[in-house]
Amino acid sequence: MRVLGIETSCDETGVAIYDGDAGLLADAVYSQTAIHAEYGGVVPELASRDHVRKLLPLIRQVLTAAAVTADQIDGVAYTAGPGLIGALLVGAALGRSLAWAWGVPALGVHHMEGHLLAPMLEDPPPAFPFVALLVSGGHTQLVAVGGVGDYQILGASVDDAAGEAFDKTAKVLDLTYPGGPALARLAAAGDPGRYRFPRPMTDRPGLDFSFSGLKTFALNTWREAQATRPDRAQARADIARAFEEAVVETLLIKCRRALAQTGIPRLVLAGGVSANRRLRERMAAALGAPGRVLFYPRPALCTDNGAMIAFAGHQRLAAGQREPLAFAVHPRWALDTLPPLASTAGRADPPAR
Ligand code: KG4
Ligand code: ZN
Repeated sequence: MRVLGIETSCDETGVAIYDGDAGLLADAVYSQTAIHAEYGGVVPELASRDHVRKLLPLIRQVLTAAAVTADQIDGVAYTAGPGLIGALLVGAALGRSLAWAWGVPALGVHHMEGHLLAPMLEDPPPAFPFVALLVSGGHTQLVAVGGVGDYQILGASVDDAAGEAFDKTAKVLDLTYPGGPALARLAAAGDPGRYRFPRPMTDRPGLDFSFSGLKTFALNTWREAQATRPDRAQARADIARAFEEAVVETLLIKCRRALAQTGIPRLVLAGGVSANRRLRERMAAALGAPGRVLFYPRPALCTDNGAMIAFAGHQRLAAGQREPLAFAVHPRWALDTLPPLASTAGRADPPAR
């Protein structure tokens, strides 16, 4: 089965084609960074309008790159949530309409399931079961994954997501949007011994996270440094480094706990923050014990992309799951409410049109 995947939940337009036999045939992402940069963050209405402009040309581009014609597409998968409602509606409306016009089934995909399954696009893929650390701009979750649709949330952030904390702290340090990668670049020049930030919620049992206090800690440290340190550029890098180290070590401590608690020896990193180099290095150093497997996809599969939606959509479409003609999007959507694959496998296909 050959599936066209569409991702428009936030500020990236992503389109890809995944083939159940041949794998990923084509994958293209258009980032709206330049549009939102002057506002210091994503402006939802501008995001929606740009998806409208970019989506069809990107679909044409991907079809050409894959050397596939529209009548060779067997299903369309689009992100149905969570995300910005206007942005989601662009991908859902176009995806559902194309599927109707082409006479093929459509499916609304959960964005975080896309992130969660993106590592399966690598060769070899991680084996089930695994513990996934899902770290993006909107979510921070530890999930026990038994298979597609078999998700047990072990812990989650009680306030800001890890990526959100990166972005907000980047703003505190006057870095330009998108802040996370900029902060990570600055941190590389920081002195790791200069400041020590707290590791929130690690002194008590449990697998939940809290990152909002780190942003305030960074703000106070930055104010004090501006008043007391003449080497302001270095001070800023030192703070970035201390912040990054605190987030990374906090994530590491909780991942270790999750592996111990579940007895599962495999950890998979996914979502935009898992592109962070320091996070990968520290995880590899700490969890690289014999008998344990650490898995993370290439950076392009960590941040938002269409390939992960095409892949997740393929898993479910191939198992028989379908979207009715009256489609819906879900700006908020709990990952552990998704149906397992088995329950949908025997379902009869409703007519595509
Ligand atoms: O998964 P993603 O592309 O979009 C969402 O689903 O949110 O994640 C975006 C988040 C942003 O908060 C961004 O700052 C963060 O991932 N991010 C990073 C890095 N690359 C992206 N954070 C830290 N270090 C990075 N290298
Ligand atoms: Zn994402």
